[in-house]
Amino acid sequence: LSYLFRALTKCVECSSEASELADIEWDNLGFGLLPTDYMYMMKCSQGGKFSKGELQRFGNIELNPSAGVLNYGQGLFEGLKAYRKEDGNILLFRPEENALRMRQGAERMCMPAPTVDQFVEAVKETVLANKRWVPPPGKGSLYIRPLLMGSGAVLGLAPAPEYSFLIYVSPVGNYFKEGVAPINLIVEHELHRATPGGTGGVKTIGNYAAVLKAQSAAKAKGYSDVLYLDCVHKKYLEEVSSCNIFVVKGNVISTPAIKGTILPGITRKSIIDVARSQGFQVEERFVPVDELLDADEVFCTGTAVVVSPVGSITYKGKRVSYGVDGFGAVAQQLYSVLTRLQMGLIDDKMNWTVEL
Ligand code: COI
Repeated sequence: LSYLFRALTKCVECSSEASELADIEWDNLGFGLLPTDYMYMMKCSQGGKFSKGELQRFGNIELNPSAGVLNYGQGLFEGLKAYRKEDGNILLFRPEENALRMRQGAERMCMPAPTVDQFVEAVKETVLANKRWVPPPGKGSLYIRPLLMGSGAVLGLAPAPEYSFLIYVSPVGNYFKEGVAPINLIVEHELHRATPGGTGGVKTIGNYAAVLKAQSAAKAKGYSDVLYLDCVHKKYLEEVSSCNIFVVKGNVISTPAIKGTILPGITRKSIIDVARSQGFQVEERFVPVDELLDADEVFCTGTAVVVSPVGSITYKGKRVSYGVDGFGAVAQQLYSVLTRLQMGLIDDKMNWTVEL
């Protein structure tokens, strides 16, 4: 009997330990890496299929110096978030969409990819193993970063002979240092993010390295980030370094159409549906840069940035400002519906959340 009692007490202790919050300062989280407890790893060979992966303690990984991802950029990443509800349960937002997008990207980058089920199961396992790092309600979210890498060694240019699928997580707050205050963008008209026929429409790692030069120059001048134009006409809006863009005029919300050079954002797609459900007219089309001049509001969307209001945009030395301060009314309304849905504060009629 005393053995049973001891075993039961131990069991209660470990479950309360597992559900405790990590001992960190939860107020004012930014968007930086906080090392957590576990990461997930799964491997497969070229032409093969991913089989059972496993959790490992979070830490450095070993790669051959000749790995495809290091030499030829054969890599993709994803980003999604988990939120803690008031009742302690955790919600994922549309994880199967990330799985599908990774599969599309893998096809473009000549890589095998996990199935949707493998991807979603791996995300769930990783989040549960790091449960104590999911911020308390209202303090932020757990950012989940799945990676797919050509980890095998290649010297001549070719797909790598082995692939690794890895997931790590980190608690995060606001992406921009401005917090929820409006960001200031500059339109880049010389450097481009993507080209027709290129890889702008998939989440390959190289797309992000390609924007660092323009982004660093913009930040050095005090801007929050860069808005890119199409490289053919140098006239139509594409996206910001790490997020999609929306322009509001009256009841019409316009966003650049997905045509191979723009990342098909999951927040973008969700905001389009939320906006339509709220009675707005949404147009996915070519949006000329000139339309920024008489827009009522501009805002950005992305997993990391959620919905970020734009306070000003500078194009060829001319600055256009939106609103006086804070969120524009439309961005605020859409942000509020989306985040309340993601946090489980309103009914999920869209069936977008997955409860753990
Ligand atoms: C995300 O929103 O998840 C992204 O991939 C943006 C990243 C550059 C932080």
